[in-house]
Amino acid sequence: MKKVITYGTFDLLHYGHLELFRRAREKGDYLVVGLSTDEFNQGKGKESHFNYEKRAEMLKAIRYIDEVIPESNWEQKAEDIKKHDIDVFVMGGDWEGKFDELKELCDVVYLPRTPDISSSAIKKIKENKHEG
Ligand code: CTP
Repeated sequence: MKKVITYGTFDLLHYGHLELFRRAREKGDYLVVGLSTDEFNQGKGKESHFNYEKRAEMLKAIRYIDEVIPESNWEQKAEDIKKHDIDVFVMGGDWEGKFDELKELCDVVYLPRTPDISSSAIKKIKENKHEG
């Protein structure tokens, strides 16, 4: 079985996320998603609208995703790849080149981002509606 992994916060789940999962899953037979914990996000100065449990529930309902694991630090990726027997590591194009050191362990693929959609853009639309 070919196993694929990707990581992210996936707050305010949107079509760009779904497209990433669909294309990642096509690279193999089993997709693991490393979902950033609230504590990890806090450390990055990022606060999600939905907490970890809610974000995890949404991901588990997506048919392209087979397993959700917590991502709680920057260093765990190599360990996860070994522990979960991962063949392909996938990230969106905004991370191009950032994880090339993992090529020693598995294939590393950067997929083009879906244009014109992001969690930040959705947050902005919501904020503007509040003001208006
Ligand atoms: N992603 C994508 N296409 C988009 C948005 C995100 O392919 N339009 C990918 C990112 O490249 C990343 C993953 O989805 O690999 C998770 O990204 P995340 O930061 O959680 O989503 P964003 O919508 O980019 O959130 P933000 O605006 O907070 O950065």
